[in-house]
Amino acid sequence: MANVIVLGTQWGDEGKGKIVDLLTEHANVVVRFQGGNNAGHTLVVDGTKYILHLIPSGIIRPNVVCCIGNGVVLDPIALIKEIDELSESGITVNSSNFKISPLTNMIMPYHQGLDSAREKHKGKAKIGTTGRGIGPAYEDRVARRGIRVGDLANRQVFESKLQANISYHNYMLENYYEAPTFNFEQMRDEFLRIGETLAPYVDDISVILDKEIKENRPILFEGAQGTMLDVDHGTYPFVTSSSTVAGSACIGSGVGPTAINYVMGIVKAYTTRVGSGPFPTELNDDVGTHLAKVGAEFGATTGRSRRCGWFDAVVVRHAIRTSGVTGFTLTKLDVLDGLDTIKICTGYTRNGQHFDTIPSDTTILDDCTPIYEEVPGWKGESAADARTYEELPETAKSYIRRLEELLGIPAAIISNGPDRYQTMVVTNPFG
Ligand code: GDP
Ligand code: IMO
Ligand code: MG
Repeated sequence: MANVIVLGTQWGDEGKGKIVDLLTEHANVVVRFQGGNNAGHTLVVDGTKYILHLIPSGIIRPNVVCCIGNGVVLDPIALIKEIDELSESGITVNSSNFKISPLTNMIMPYHQGLDSAREKHKGKAKIGTTGRGIGPAYEDRVARRGIRVGDLANRQVFESKLQANISYHNYMLENYYEAPTFNFEQMRDEFLRIGETLAPYVDDISVILDKEIKENRPILFEGAQGTMLDVDHGTYPFVTSSSTVAGSACIGSGVGPTAINYVMGIVKAYTTRVGSGPFPTELNDDVGTHLAKVGAEFGATTGRSRRCGWFDAVVVRHAIRTSGVTGFTLTKLDVLDGLDTIKICTGYTRNGQHFDTIPSDTTILDDCTPIYEEVPGWKGESAADARTYEELPETAKSYIRRLEELLGIPAAIISNGPDRYQTMVVTNPFG
């Protein structure tokens, strides 16, 4: 039995949620290991759409245990809202199918206050965060002052940590950012109530996963964001505050690397990005508009328009290397229907210098010009209508083969529509 990591290879929104839902058919447990409710993972099952931000995308399937690992930053208010919304659409979340690590750091209301105050303060240089308080919560984690889910079980510890945090962050908010501050008593009472609501879900995720591994039951690790948003390997500082690469799955859930058998990279057939920062293949023309419109490229979390551009093999190769990706899922192939020709970026050039890897200096990346190869589209034929790989237009198959050549790994799954059934599995990562 295999344990599989699913992660994004570009700037997020590659279609991870859809593929996690699909592959959960073969998994007993699905774990989120980093990020928070900055994520927006969409899945469509028989026409019904679900958008998940914190709860793993395996929740739609019965008899699957969904876990929040220690590497996540958890906004409990957002979580309770998500549980309620799921229950309204008939999906039950209870202490048997949902578990949270007590080691998980919480996103507190002052983290959101700091996130928006900092973005405002940065002006034009802003990162374009989701405003969910992700960065400030991760800062508190490494500063060793974070409040963890487990702290809610110990009133004394919780109150003293909250008191210290509020006093520290209020000082910055008031004096440095001239932004609104937060009230201790109000937050204490709210979070003590939240603690009671969350208590039944709290469990040792590392121990749960270890038992699954020893008993040979498959685990699916659900990544959020994408490699180019990784805090080290991405386009720093225009990144999120967590590690999004495969190694993070182990650290953020409490398993060792020997437990991982397959890393599935989710690859969009073109490229998108939300927020600021370099994006070499970005298109500000009719093709960009076509991709945005046909691909419905609006953020699942903030509703912002996603920037769109051609496929960038330099970016995806970077992800494959930094995560040891085994095989890839190509999503949104249908969105390229109707184009005369398609461009693939194979490298960059800048002042006569050639790059076939991502330059570490983001200002250099920002100044790079993509080198394209142009391949024929399949205008007049439809990738969207194909139900099997064989039924895909010949030129669409050539596009997939060219990507496999450039990336050096096989296409394991092809996705040609948002619904669960619009998927062709060439190789099942679970074996
Ligand atoms: P995630 O964050 O990686 O889970 O991706 P998002 O859910 O934010 O964005 C992907 C969007 O594309 C969602 O609206 C999906 O429903 C949709 N989607 C996923 N796969 C396909 C596909 O193959 N074709 C089309 N047209 N849409 C897809
Ligand atoms: P999923 O899991 C796309 C981007 C934000 C911003 C940067 C930092 O749905 O793929 P943050 O709020 O994390 O501090 O913002 O990261 N970002 C995402 N972009 N998909 C996501 O998640 C993202 N999560 C964060 O737009 O540029
Ligand atoms: Mg998303």
